[in-house]
Amino acid sequence: MRRIPIRNLHAGLVLPKPLYDSKNVLLLAPGKKLTQDMVAALQNMGEGFAFLGELGSRMGDGRSLAALKDEAERASRDLKEEFDRILTAQNLDCRPSGPPMRETIGGGRRGPRKPEELAEIRTAIDDADSLVEEISGGWIHQDDVAGAALATAEKFAGLFAADPSLAALMAQAKRPGGYLHSHSVNVSLLSMQIAATMGYGRSQVVEAGLAALVQDLGMTMVPDPVAQKPARLTAVEMIDIQKHTYQGAYLIERFRGLPIIPRFVAMQCHERNDGSGYPRRRPKHLIHIFARIVAVADAYDSLITDRPWRPAQRPYRAMESLIKWAHEGKFDADAVKGLLGVLSLYPIGTCVRLNTGETGRVVHANGRQFARPGITILFDAQGQLCSESIYRDLGTLPDVAVESVVESPPPIGAMAGF
Ligand SMILES: [Fe+2]
Repeated sequence: MRRIPIRNLHAGLVLPKPLYDSKNVLLLAPGKKLTQDMVAALQNMGEGFAFLGELGSRMGDGRSLAALKDEAERASRDLKEEFDRILTAQNLDCRPSGPPMRETIGGGRRGPRKPEELAEIRTAIDDADSLVEEISGGWIHQDDVAGAALATAEKFAGLFAADPSLAALMAQAKRPGGYLHSHSVNVSLLSMQIAATMGYGRSQVVEAGLAALVQDLGMTMVPDPVAQKPARLTAVEMIDIQKHTYQGAYLIERFRGLPIIPRFVAMQCHERNDGSGYPRRRPKHLIHIFARIVAVADAYDSLITDRPWRPAQRPYRAMESLIKWAHEGKFDADAVKGLLGVLSLYPIGTCVRLNTGETGRVVHANGRQFARPGITILFDAQGQLCSESIYRDLGTLPDVAVESVVESPPPIGAMAGF
């Protein structure tokens, strides 16, 4: 079942599969050609999305997504050779250029956000999730993907320039829809902020975000029983997973106007600096820096999300794991340091106990002061729920410190304190 934005349904479209509403009520049978009246009726339902039985036809050029996937399968051998050809020192050379974006970013979030700020963030999340869904489902013409993805990354750049803690906040916002969509959006935003922290210019940061948005597209080609298997994969199944790198790069190449970097990222974001990754076991100097950045963001967001084979880790634990893997030489140390600068040692959303006896939630990082984030106090020193918002910025309070992480925080609203 695939969620389809109703605004994308238009007269003349032939439904390849049955269309349902959010309550699984059949709206239209397969093979039905949409008329203006039908489209108007769907739009008048007052719902943003409808649900299609299975993968649908690819709009625009009329080729089915399934056919495209077969093509990618056949082409994977050629892709390996082509990739080796384009993997030149020149293509891998990606040093920061232009004014560093970090210099244009505000000094950090101070205090809880206003409702209208949260509303704007939520709209941006929803639009971006929908875009990834449209791309992965083939519901947007392949010639329009580059422009739409670029506009999304530009929107993110504008939002986090004004609110540097945005990436972590967005990652906290669990939302409906498939893992691929929300994960791609979270990875995009985190990657952009890591790239900005590492000194890249704004256009480079946007390019990293754009690449991250489409980096996992190849996962749509992995059979569901393998992608969702709640147990250890067999060797054959692992090959299916590893192929998603090439297959994603193949799909991305079809999107006219996209630069070459998203292909590098799709191919290489599962490589590891010590050569232990896949699909080509490349060492650090043969892995594009944006792929190394996206690898860190991808691993972090994956760790803090429930997956069929394991429960989510708390953000603090996920950060600990990444620091350990960076020490072991698997993940890029600079990129992990960049993530620390974005999220702090106690990532946004982590519940912590302070040496004042108060318990609160981390709401923003403080750059290189990795252990001194901003906190919204939820429970006072006597353990009473605070009736009004109290904010402590540990970056400016040298006597106040995090004493411990609260592994099992008392039940509080998902967005309380933000
Ligand atoms: Fe992937």
